[in-house]
Amino acid sequence: MPGFITDERIPNNVDLSSDKRLQRALEKWQPAFLDWWTEMGPEGFQGNEVFLRTAISVESGGWAHFDHVRMPEYRWGIFLEPREKERKIGFGDHAGEAAWQTVPGEYRNMLRRIIVTQGDTEPASVEQQRLLGKTAPSLYDLRNLFQVNVEEGRHLWAMVYLLHSFFGRDGREEADDMLERRSGDADSPRILGTFNEPIDDWLSFFCFTMFTDRDGKYQLAALAESGFDPLARTCRFMLTEEAHHMFVGDTGVNRIIERWCQVATEQGRDKVRSEGAIPLDIIQKYVNFWFSCSMDLFGGEQSSNAADYFAAGIKGRFKEDKFAEHSALGDVYTLQKIDASSLKVYTEEIPLRNAMNEVLRDGYKADCMKGVNRWNKTLAKFGLEERITLPDHKFHRQIGLYSGFHFAPDGTPMDDAAWEAQKDKWLPTQEDRDYVQSLMKPCYEQGKIASWIAPPRKGINGRPFDFDYVRL
Ligand SMILES: [Fe+2]
Ligand SMILES: [Fe+2]
Repeated sequence: MPGFITDERIPNNVDLSSDKRLQRALEKWQPAFLDWWTEMGPEGFQGNEVFLRTAISVESGGWAHFDHVRMPEYRWGIFLEPREKERKIGFGDHAGEAAWQTVPGEYRNMLRRIIVTQGDTEPASVEQQRLLGKTAPSLYDLRNLFQVNVEEGRHLWAMVYLLHSFFGRDGREEADDMLERRSGDADSPRILGTFNEPIDDWLSFFCFTMFTDRDGKYQLAALAESGFDPLARTCRFMLTEEAHHMFVGDTGVNRIIERWCQVATEQGRDKVRSEGAIPLDIIQKYVNFWFSCSMDLFGGEQSSNAADYFAAGIKGRFKEDKFAEHSALGDVYTLQKIDASSLKVYTEEIPLRNAMNEVLRDGYKADCMKGVNRWNKTLAKFGLEERITLPDHKFHRQIGLYSGFHFAPDGTPMDDAAWEAQKDKWLPTQEDRDYVQSLMKPCYEQGKIASWIAPPRKGINGRPFDFDYVRL
């Protein structure tokens, strides 16, 4: 589609209209992206007008432009935070040197791998969520789903921009492959395990946006420190959008808990199912599942890759400038390990650079805890004693030191038999999933809401809850 690649169609601050090389690459990639969106994006609603936020500039008034648009006509743009004059690399072996405006040859493969791994999660989540539009609890929630979906599409654009602009031919091939892999596909799956898990109910969707998008926040924040300046600036802008995704998850779970509280206090705990609400213990099990899966996304506890990324100045810590020291040399991290024969947990000090995944994961867990505390305030407000908890970091892990062992949510190690006997108390059973699934019926009357969730406190961008967020 020659002539499609214009500043009007593709809002950007990368000088697209004068960058012939980027234009040529995008002219081929953009139609393939739209084909992918049609095939793997949200099922249904492609012809409906949705009240969406579009980034049309990086200025404070421009990055959040709201309007009713059809999703295939969404203007996926390319934005980087404005360049900081004379920015220096903030950590690792190159600390204090000028940030790179092009890819340093020695780190080319490393950088490409990081960008591809991050980029792959963006379309993956759209694919995982593609059927949820059939069962949204309200038009407000339906709109939020689509907002998250189009922005994950834009995040793919952001990563593809980097591949096209800085990695030549192999970058273009990687960009094409992003549209070839499919979440959950046996032959050509998405790169990271959690992004191949189907999300087929809304409790899972809210847990995903609460916990898995929050992993995204931490990964992006670590890359926002990168010495490769275009990557840092791209990730900084993505973080502004990511905040809304986590808001959707955080408030979504909170509203499900609130609904449980209403039924528990007004009709009684024994009426939760007959009133079509979700029992709190099922919510807790979903929290356990999605939190532990998302913890896996940070990678191994002891990682030479993580040490290399940090040494190279490519991936820093969350808010690196808050740390007093930026070489991370000569310092240690106290890691929990498990003895395979006695199943006893013991600690060992490892070089801090090798523990960078764990440092990031610790910050992530603390951030998740803040959300859980907000949920517990809701329970307290209703005068109820129940509380949601986050499981220990060792619970239900599939990657790293603790995988292959079993731990209770409080971190107590246990043998296979003890785990098998109790795991149904801690993780969603088929019966739990079936119950949640039985509630998944669309509620698309303006101003109405499904039985299992409370309405939001506020609408989007000053609009009321009963606004026509999606025009059916
Ligand atoms: Fe994203
Ligand atoms: Fe996201």
